[in-house]
Amino acid sequence: MKTIIEPFRIKSVEPIRMTTLEQRRQLLRDAHFNLFAVRSQDVIIDLLTDSGTSAMSAEQWAALMRGDESYAGSPSFERFEAAVRELMPFKHVIPTHQGRAAEAILFSIVGGAGRKIPSNTHFDTTRGNIEASGAQAFDLLIEEGKSPSNLHPFKGNMDLAKLEAFLAANGASVPCVMITVTNNAGGGQPVSLANIKAVGELARRHGKPFYIDGCRFAENAWFIKSREPGQAARSIPDVVRDMFSGADGMTMSAKKDAFANIGGWLAVNDDELARTAKNRLILTEGFTSYGGLAGRDLEAIAQGLKEVVDEDYLQYRVRANTYIGERLTAADVPIVLPVGGHAVFIDAGSLLPHIPALHYPGQALAVALYEAGGIRSCEIGTVMFGRQVDGSEKPASMELVRLAIPRRVYTQSHADYVVEVILEVASRKQALNGMKIVWEPKALRHFTAKFAPR
Ligand code: F0G
Repeated sequence: MKTIIEPFRIKSVEPIRMTTLEQRRQLLRDAHFNLFAVRSQDVIIDLLTDSGTSAMSAEQWAALMRGDESYAGSPSFERFEAAVRELMPFKHVIPTHQGRAAEAILFSIVGGAGRKIPSNTHFDTTRGNIEASGAQAFDLLIEEGKSPSNLHPFKGNMDLAKLEAFLAANGASVPCVMITVTNNAGGGQPVSLANIKAVGELARRHGKPFYIDGCRFAENAWFIKSREPGQAARSIPDVVRDMFSGADGMTMSAKKDAFANIGGWLAVNDDELARTAKNRLILTEGFTSYGGLAGRDLEAIAQGLKEVVDEDYLQYRVRANTYIGERLTAADVPIVLPVGGHAVFIDAGSLLPHIPALHYPGQALAVALYEAGGIRSCEIGTVMFGRQVDGSEKPASMELVRLAIPRRVYTQSHADYVVEVILEVASRKQALNGMKIVWEPKALRHFTAKFAPR
């Protein structure tokens, strides 16, 4: 088979500013070894997130000029709504400024004290919004999804037996069932079409609405088409429509699989829920035809949704991540397998067994990758999850470093560079030491904590 090339050519470029090892050592000290405190000009390859970092296409930039900024009745809203409903035919599409705003509105209505909301794995803002409403969030992922080396093709699947038991035990206190596609927190792992449908049916049998967090729906659809028996001949839009056909609504961050730099939506079928949600929207985001967005943002999303379901793009997208994963695996660098849709996750706990969890092996690795090559990644381990509500600290279930790949931004030589830097750091892993936290805030410490090397 021929090389799967980037299916685009580059019309507009952003320079990357090179830094030296000495400069990066100083920059790390200045940032107290927290990569969130490093300026993006001082990063060579920025893999902090795939959210809002996509390169827009020429057609998206052209669409910006069509943006109609009228307060009400804008044709940009109509184009946005039509593009969403082409793929996810929900009755009401409510624009928001990003995904968490859609979550905040939904859970301010269906959440509340005493309520319990299950999912495969709630993303942290979803969990945060559920908990902020007074409700509780539960993750019912299949066991295979918790093991970094298990090669199950759909490690994002919900555990149906656990969901059945959960619904039987908690019936009246469950306002809805959710599922996240792909499962970001679990490594960008996909959910099978069969699992999505089974979850929908189970929810319906128990009389519960079923919502999908659809941030990476197109990547998930590609995995369904390429891995699930009987799906290979279908078009991606057809698979996407099938994924959402049994759902009652969705939340979405257009900063992922819509190639937009900002935006999101809440979509529902229920008229009464939509009415309440639109009233909240007007209070917090803006009028129903723009949410927290400009007309031009709605245009960029509408065009992005047409582009993201292109098979050449999706094949390249998943291949580009898998390429990095294969090279790391060949060199015995432990990663979460199979590689997911939007990121490569290094298993820092296995790579650095000499660093105990409370000395933050993931943070030590993320800092080492920045120092060695100016690569910015993100610790997803004890720094992020270790602090408990009672003030104590305990190891997270996994010590991962996420290399999130922005869409259509980096080329294969960038990927080769990333691999070289990781292998160089891995070759001297014994010399890596843990970190300690010298200051941390009360909540969400990973964003602003100050570290020092041990
Ligand atoms: N749901 C999932 C699965 C996400 O990955 C995110 C964001 C959100 C909801 C919230 O969307 O950022 O537009 O408010 N994930 C980003 C990330 C931040 O880096 O993984 P948002």
